[in-house]
Amino acid sequence: MRERLQELIADRLTGYAASLGITLPADQIELPAPPDPALGDFAMNLPLKLARVARKAPLAIAGEIADLLRDREVFAKVEVAPPGYINLALAEGAISAALNAIVADTQLQLRTDGAPRTVVLDYSGVNIAKQMHVGHLRSTIIGDVIGRVLEARGERVIRQNHLGDWGLPIAMVLWKAGPALRDLDARGEDPLQALTVADLEQMYRDATAAVKADPHASDAVHRILVALQGGDPRLLADWQTITRLSMQEVYRVYAELGVLLTADDERGESFYRDQLAGTVAALAACGALTESQGAMCVFLEQFTGKDGTPLPVIVRKSDGGYNYETFDLAAIRFRIEGLGADRVIYVTDARQALHFAQVFAVAERCGWTARGDARVALEHVTFGSVLGADGTPLKTRGGENVKLADLLAEAVARAYAVVHEKNPDLPDAEKRAVARAVGIGAVKYSDLRQDRHNDYVFDWDRMLALVGNTAPYLQYAHARICSIFRKGGVEEEAITAAPAVSHPAERALALKLLAFAEVVEAVEAELRPHILCTYLYELATAFSGFYDQCPVLTAETEASKQARLALCRAARRTLARGLELLGIEAPREM
Ligand code: ARG
Repeated sequence: MRERLQELIADRLTGYAASLGITLPADQIELPAPPDPALGDFAMNLPLKLARVARKAPLAIAGEIADLLRDREVFAKVEVAPPGYINLALAEGAISAALNAIVADTQLQLRTDGAPRTVVLDYSGVNIAKQMHVGHLRSTIIGDVIGRVLEARGERVIRQNHLGDWGLPIAMVLWKAGPALRDLDARGEDPLQALTVADLEQMYRDATAAVKADPHASDAVHRILVALQGGDPRLLADWQTITRLSMQEVYRVYAELGVLLTADDERGESFYRDQLAGTVAALAACGALTESQGAMCVFLEQFTGKDGTPLPVIVRKSDGGYNYETFDLAAIRFRIEGLGADRVIYVTDARQALHFAQVFAVAERCGWTARGDARVALEHVTFGSVLGADGTPLKTRGGENVKLADLLAEAVARAYAVVHEKNPDLPDAEKRAVARAVGIGAVKYSDLRQDRHNDYVFDWDRMLALVGNTAPYLQYAHARICSIFRKGGVEEEAITAAPAVSHPAERALALKLLAFAEVVEAVEAELRPHILCTYLYELATAFSGFYDQCPVLTAETEASKQARLALCRAARRTLARGLELLGIEAPREM
């Protein structure tokens, strides 16, 4: 809405601005809300800005602009306020027409007009042979929201799950897994059924202990690593098996979380194994490579240690092995050349900030990001930690990492109790479905609603509360609108009336609804999902204010009832779409 108003105002004022010798781009017209809603819907400081350039009294300019904007169809109020503001209030007809236009678009007018760009989105990045723990939650769900928002805006999103599936830890597991897999083979058992990732974790622990205690074990693991990297078919087959075994558990968690990643998006470190030597050669070719104590390094002057000595990015170790850095450098080249990325976004915790800063700088230095006159943008989206009540990273009572699968199961169980208390008469199958939506939604929302830069304290009671800035509160608002339609026997599709906007509570809700697209645009611009959460909370609150003051099914006249139903429809769709962008279900009944 704001954008359309900016265009309209720019249009009306082009001639006037030109007479002052000024060109007026639409996006330079700021339209913030006035300090007091009674003053209007938007406050424009344009006269003050123009006065400075044109050397004319601001109040005089304000008066002239106000005259040019007076139009009953658009504005109910155009008022000059000293020292040179113009307060604008929209005409009711303009509000309801704009709202109708949004509802008529299945995309709720979220798309940009621009040509789609190709965005490679790297998130989740789970490690093979390890269970997902709470540390993987944020990358997975924040990344997923970013993907949904970019797609809603019309971008082409290529998701990449950069699995940790190659290297020494895998060799350690393979050393122990080999004999176990042969045993299962001999008994004709399917390892995907007979083994769990917990078993693989145990193998890793056993191998670590053995390697510490016994140099022969260390040699054995090293031989496995070399043979695996050399393409030994038996080891590769075992590696495949443990990858599938791990990923089948990961996909169970993704399904539970409603995360969009699929097997097509898997492109782990192993994918780049044959591109590592070429990557190092390319670094040499651009003159970036230095040998230091047998290792191949890139030194960049902007990265120095505490004592001021340059920090190397080691791309090949002295033993010939490659690093996490090398995989990411290979991946950058593949994403730009192979996938055609215009933009690459990485979602990991803030501890990897230096890693990505270095890798990006190396890519820049070698000109890999140049694309004609343009540059491929490499962006690191970071986030803080999930903390327990004691303010340290969330752990189980035994001091272990909290398994994500256990956490989600507990969320659903706790939500079941909430749903049962709220609506004991709901059939049990539905209670279970709603409990899933509410429990998973609560966990995701309590994370997403935080500015991602911050740490936050994981708190069951707060996230499951039916009041406050929580998923259940938003879901409940949505279900309440659905129940209005159900009780009234009204089909949303059959509503033809224009939305009601004359009561102050109706107007407040309508104006909130008109801001949806610009909020999603802000989430896209800053890649910060909490902006959408804050908005949806305010929207649900505005709905609740409306519903308390304006009876819908028992409205005084049939016309008012229809108009309020139309407003309810717009609110329901916006809430549902907003929750969908957050990857949170919106049940119709709670
Ligand atoms: N597997 C990595 C980890 O657990 C995350 C991968 C992130 N993506 C990347 N391209 N490095 O830390």
